[in-house]
Amino acid sequence: MEKILVANWKLNPETLEEAKDLASKTDLEGVILCPPVLFLEEVKSVLKRAKLGSQDVFFEDEGPFTGEISPSQLKGLGVEYSIVGHSERRSHLNEADEMINKKVKAALDENITPILCVGESKEIHDQGEDAVREFIKDQLGKDLSGVEEGVVVAYEPIWAIGTKAEDPQEAASTISYIKELLDKNTPVLYGGSVNKENIESFVKEDAIDGFLVGGASLDPDQFNSIAQSI
Ligand code: PGA
Repeated sequence: MEKILVANWKLNPETLEEAKDLASKTDLEGVILCPPVLFLEEVKSVLKRAKLGSQDVFFEDEGPFTGEISPSQLKGLGVEYSIVGHSERRSHLNEADEMINKKVKAALDENITPILCVGESKEIHDQGEDAVREFIKDQLGKDLSGVEEGVVVAYEPIWAIGTKAEDPQEAASTISYIKELLDKNTPVLYGGSVNKENIESFVKEDAIDGFLVGGASLDPDQFNSIAQSI
C-alpha cells in the first residue's frame, strides 16, 4: 500500500492568495490537501496532482442547518476526502461520537472517503497501554457503528498534536492494535507533530500507512521534505 499524506491546514492561511500559493507549492502525487472550506474551489483549480479534502462534513444533504456544508456540496467542489471527528472539533465544538458516526455515513453515501480521527487524552495515555487501547476501541466502535469499510483512520493522540510527536514505536504498536479491530483494507495513519526532522523515524514503522500533518503542512519546505521521505 502506498503511504498517504494528508495536509490539515486548519484555520490557515489568512487569504485566498496565500492558500493558492501554498497549494501550488505542495501539489504532490499521493497528497490530500484539506484547506478551509472557503478556499476549496480555488485550491482545486490550481491542483494538478494532489487530491482535495475538507476538514469537516455535515450529516445531512439539505435543509434548515445554518452554517453547515453538505457532503453533496463538497462533492460538487471536487472533494474526495473529509476529515471527520478531529479532536479539535470534539473539544471546541462538542462533537460527540454519535454525530461523528452520522458524518462518516453521510460522507460514504456521497462517495467521499472519511478520514476518521481517533486518539486519547494525556490523562488516558498516562494510565498505560491497556487504558489507551480500551479508549480507542470504544471510540472506534461508536464512530464506525454500522460501517464496515471505505474509511481511512487517523490515530492522533491528542497530547501529541501541535506539541511533540509520540514515540514512533508506540504509535506503530497502537496502530497495529487498531488494525486488528478494522477491515484489513483500512489504512491507518499517524498524526501529531510530524515534521521533516522526525518523519524518517516514523516511515520505518511498516504498520503506519501514512500521516496527517497539521503545522508542518503550512510550510512548503517542511511538507515537501516529509513527502520526499515517504
Ligand atoms: P500537528 O497537527 O501536525 O500540527 O500536530 C496534526 C493534526 O491536528 O491533524
